[in-house]
Amino acid sequence: MGFTIAIDGPAAAGKGTISKAVAAHFGFAHLDTGLLYRAVGAKVLNGAEPVAAARTLQAEDLNNASLRTADVAQAASRVAVIAEVREALVDFQRAFARRAGGAVLDGRDIGTVICPDATAKLFVTASAEVRAERRFLELEARAADVSREQVLADVKERDERDMNRSEAPLKPAADAIILDTSELTVDGAITQAIAEISRIVKP
Ligand code: DC
Repeated sequence: MGFTIAIDGPAAAGKGTISKAVAAHFGFAHLDTGLLYRAVGAKVLNGAEPVAAARTLQAEDLNNASLRTADVAQAASRVAVIAEVREALVDFQRAFARRAGGAVLDGRDIGTVICPDATAKLFVTASAEVRAERRFLELEARAADVSREQVLADVKERDERDMNRSEAPLKPAADAIILDTSELTVDGAITQAIAEISRIVKP
């Protein structure tokens, strides 16, 4: 079996950027599991029933630029509390994790629920203020009409819901390496993540 790297953390902590860089460094495939929940959330915003949407999700549903909007992020966080929605998405994630060539999965419950036996686990975090500022700059660059205050409120609301749900709440696995990116540059965070993981993963 190939190596599996689990990267979890709250919204806008830098997991996505770090995961892509880690996957490229080791030559592993990468799955942003948030996209699965966003794709279900987007279908619900269009009138679908959440459990049915999760059970009928197709790979092409993940290739949709609208999945990156703030509304879809909130809808994703709301459908992610539903046990049957999470259950419907487990097999796809585990099959991806078992890829022979190695896999990096990022999300909220990869190290705790989806891949408790992952080769290496990283929990990427940062203060809510720093995360909100990063997300604000990202949305502003895409010309989204949002204020800093609104983005911070959204980040806090999503944290609250993701951490306090009963199904697979966001929390570091007991054996996860914690990486706080609040004071790090993007390059610094990537370098540190690769250094930590390289201690464990030696392809
Ligand atoms: O990582 P993201 O911001 O794209 O995730 C969107 C929402 O999906 C997040 O607020 C909670 C949910 N999610 C989850 O519950 N479990 C995951 N493994 C990934 C995302």
